[in-house]
Amino acid sequence: MKKLFFLTALVASATQLLAKDIYVNTPSTTLLLNAEEGKPLHISYYGSKVTDASEVYNAYSLWEEAYPAFGAGCQELVCLSARHADGNMSTELVYISDTERQEQNAKVYVITMKDKVYDFQVDVCYRTYQNCDVIETWTEIRNNEKKPITLLQYASGFLPIRQGDVWVSHQHGAWGAEAQVTEEPLHAGQFLVQDYNSVKNAVVNRPNIMLSLDGKPQENQGRVIGAVLCWSGNFKMKVDTQGKNIHRFSAGISEDNAMYTLKKGESFTTPQLALTYSTEGMGGASRSFHRWARKNNMVAHGEKMRNILLNSWEGIYLDVDQQKCEKLMDGVKTLGGELFVLDDGWFGNKYRRNVDDKALGDWVTDTLKLPQGIPALAKAAKDRGLKFGIWIEPEMTNNPSELYEKHPDWIVCHPTREPIYGRGGTQLILDLSNPKVQDFVFQVVDNLMQETPDLYYIKWDANCEIHNFGSSYLTQDNQSHLYVDYHKGLINALKRIRAKYPDLVIQCCASGGGRVCYGLMPYFDEFWVSDNTDAQQRLFIQWGTSMFFPTNAMAQHVSASPNHQTGRQIPLKFRFDVAFTGRLGIEMRPSDFNERELAFAQRAIETYKHFRPLIQQGDLYRLISPYEGKGFCSEMIMNEQKTEGLFFAYKFEQYMDLFRPRFQFAGLDPNAIYTLTEINRDGGNADHWEGHKFSGQFLMENGVEINLSGQWASKVIHLKKN
Ligand code: GLA
Repeated sequence: MKKLFFLTALVASATQLLAKDIYVNTPSTTLLLNAEEGKPLHISYYGSKVTDASEVYNAYSLWEEAYPAFGAGCQELVCLSARHADGNMSTELVYISDTERQEQNAKVYVITMKDKVYDFQVDVCYRTYQNCDVIETWTEIRNNEKKPITLLQYASGFLPIRQGDVWVSHQHGAWGAEAQVTEEPLHAGQFLVQDYNSVKNAVVNRPNIMLSLDGKPQENQGRVIGAVLCWSGNFKMKVDTQGKNIHRFSAGISEDNAMYTLKKGESFTTPQLALTYSTEGMGGASRSFHRWARKNNMVAHGEKMRNILLNSWEGIYLDVDQQKCEKLMDGVKTLGGELFVLDDGWFGNKYRRNVDDKALGDWVTDTLKLPQGIPALAKAAKDRGLKFGIWIEPEMTNNPSELYEKHPDWIVCHPTREPIYGRGGTQLILDLSNPKVQDFVFQVVDNLMQETPDLYYIKWDANCEIHNFGSSYLTQDNQSHLYVDYHKGLINALKRIRAKYPDLVIQCCASGGGRVCYGLMPYFDEFWVSDNTDAQQRLFIQWGTSMFFPTNAMAQHVSASPNHQTGRQIPLKFRFDVAFTGRLGIEMRPSDFNERELAFAQRAIETYKHFRPLIQQGDLYRLISPYEGKGFCSEMIMNEQKTEGLFFAYKFEQYMDLFRPRFQFAGLDPNAIYTLTEINRDGGNADHWEGHKFSGQFLMENGVEINLSGQWASKVIHLKKN
């Protein structure tokens, strides 16, 4: 094997004299490609920026096909497998040409490859940004053959990684316990994360991984490659390890039960795979993804401030009426909030939504509950100086609903089969591969906006997965397009909504964090992190979620105690401090606060408003992981200029002689002097460091003692550069 590696390196060295190096550069990284007419495209390096490829070649670097296809060289992991018009299963892609084009903030490299024999073309594309170290890669596959061809595998991108002590961090979860972090070393064989849910692809496994190249993953040091697949449907992320040299990584739409046929002249664009490389550990990779998302609108309105809202769900559930809503509005107004969101339970006419098993699809006001309709609620909010938002679940229906009665063929289910139901034993999914259903979904929003032009915010939910494979719309030959065409149809509807209502704020919810994925986030301002609002468990869920998603997209709400999901009783200050690291909200009846709690909540909301730009746009440094099992968690958010930050420390275990970590800071300017002040205080004595000055160097090396006594103790410290 050693000999083979040596030989490939020699080939690399010789080839580069004849061939063309393509430097896919971000401000501090390079992905190095090598292209030569009539030969496959090669990747030889991904890491910190290089300006002289010979450095890479002379160091015996990697030399792998950039987009391996099945058929010629089929003994290893491939990205692409196609059955050509004549039945041939093999593909042999060679370089034809390449172009570069400038976009506003980005540069796109298109490397055109063609099969040696067939009129089958693949553009391998890379986009790099000037404002972040993220590279997006995807392909455009074109059938210029005379007859239809079938794609059997069509991953978005590929990356070879030199073996060493490489670890993978990925996220696994369930409803109410999303984004649980798992770390493991890569072994021989295949590492695979995939999703079968088909609608909510982030409930169980998420389409994001980090690869730590220098042993056990660390937050703020070591080389890390982060990868995010921008797709909302079934996916596969694979790392194949054979022999002792290279890990082969690919990611894309899952090929399982998803063969895709292209007619003559048709093309297929694979979703983007976003890659980042960092020498600052997983935290560095996270910050790159956060910047990419915020600065390039990978979350909608990435740099716009988010409002503090109250969502009615845990306050009144389905028991909606005008008076209860107005009481919640009064409550959130008194707290200093800015937006009232009416959750489920407001709609249904023939079938009323008193239980969660009816009326999805019938987006008309339940006039028994709300005789004056939604506009009257929006007015009540406006009269109080609040914005107004509403919940919908437009991709779904129930049996019973008027919609299902009228359009039984609109559901996802093969016409020969009896439907299998989801939530409530009655929920069904609308078939978004059908353009008429796409129109309907668009109209749900359009009608709401026409009826209530003041509507500021929509909570867009999706609570079902595909139980019944099949479509009344797709042709016999194209049934296997369903998994892909559902999401293409959804994105089509979302694009139309965004084109007509660019300023609308839309939350992405799917039984909590079931759709926390970059395939959808460009159309959504934020997502509901989890239906689990228990502050202790939220520390774990938010920690995992923050590995890829920025604070301003993470909806984090203070809810009642005892908590409705876990029954745990946690002090209000701790609940606020946990919710503070994202987009703050309230998910309870403010009328349940006692006087002291009310005063604390009012102060905390005022404080949040003051620090909002820092929290929602700053750089996140994760410090002590709750997953370490020590009962502590800490993280901080610094502004880009490193002049101001917030440090968060949480303690959620309590026993005698519990070891208390020394809290070290990160991300500071070592030469700057910072003053520390506690914020969000709820009585108690000031700590020894209160009001004192420390150098950034001292704080990062030595940190400070933070007095946290009892279970669910927390502190928030403001750092200000002198
Ligand atoms: C889902 C959401 C909740 C709430 C309910 C309403 O479970 O995740 O936040 O909106 O639906 O039915």
